[in-house]
Amino acid sequence: MSVEIAFIGGGNMTEAMGAALLRAQISLPENVRVSDIKAERRQYMAQKYGVKTTGNNREAINGADLVILATKPQDIDAVMAGLNGELRAEQLVLSIIAGVPIVKLERGLGHGRLVRVMPNTPAQVGQGMSVWTATPAVSAEQKALAASLLKAMGKEIMVGDEDIIDRATAVSGSGPAYLFLFVESLAGAAESLGFAPEVASELVMQTVLGASCFLAESGKTPAELRKMVTSPGGTTAAALAVFEKGQFAALVKDAVAAAYRRARELGK
Ligand SMILES: NC(=O)c1ccc[n+]([C@@H]2O[C@H](COP(=O)([O-])OP(=O)(O)OC[C@H]3O[C@@H](n4cnc5c(N)ncnc54)[C@H](OP(=O)(O)O)[C@@H]3O)[C@@H](O)[C@H]2O)c1
Repeated sequence: MSVEIAFIGGGNMTEAMGAALLRAQISLPENVRVSDIKAERRQYMAQKYGVKTTGNNREAINGADLVILATKPQDIDAVMAGLNGELRAEQLVLSIIAGVPIVKLERGLGHGRLVRVMPNTPAQVGQGMSVWTATPAVSAEQKALAASLLKAMGKEIMVGDEDIIDRATAVSGSGPAYLFLFVESLAGAAESLGFAPEVASELVMQTVLGASCFLAESGKTPAELRKMVTSPGGTTAAALAVFEKGQFAALVKDAVAAAYRRARELGK
């Protein structure tokens, strides 16, 4: 069965989710509608994926089983004002918009069947981590649909409490940026040892990719793998001692706590 899906906002995340759901054959291109205010974005999505497009959000949701809200947070008020009272009670609305709580969506849309998701950017290459929650009005079948859509973009975890979404935002939502910062720092350090930027970048990229795959496939914990490459008095031990002196673990903890605080503030 092909599900009728409407995307409100046709940006990067819509492209990632749209491509994933077409790949997983959750929907056929003719059953997917993308609404975006930019004509060139509509044209791009129609040409690349064969989906239907519109510049009118109300038209997009008409007949959709699932409506996915994927605009930037600053545009959600305008989107909700335009859709308020227009949704049928049985339609499922799934929001991936960071920092917008369910209570705000419920009020703004005048609608009760809601799923709120915190995805992350690796969803764009099918390696995402999505944490999500649903209101009581969402049926078991609709939850299964949400789960299958999110699985098509990587891994998913359903949680019962919206506060866990804010906690996950600080870990998996913002987490890719923490790793990117580390990659930038390591590449910069490699350059300071005399490597050309392209070589530094290749060394670091493959090391991060290889270490991540190794961690995922080895069945060992990160601490075990770290100890395996750390011989007493060796080179890795020398570097790790510097990280420890700089209180690396405490710094990461503080950074994650700051992200969680900010997620809560934004959700008010
Ligand atoms: N990127 C990620 O990995 C990631 C991760 C977690 C959560 N999210 C959330 O996902 C959401 C989308 O992110 P994104 O990176 O895909 O954003 P994006 O690329 O900016 O896409 C949003 C699109 O919606 C359009 N738009 C704005 N107002 C609209 C309206 N009233 N009706 C229809 N379309 C409208 C925008 O046009 P204009 O550009 O002209 O405004 C833009 O093309 C954000 O809320 C973000 O918090 C993203």
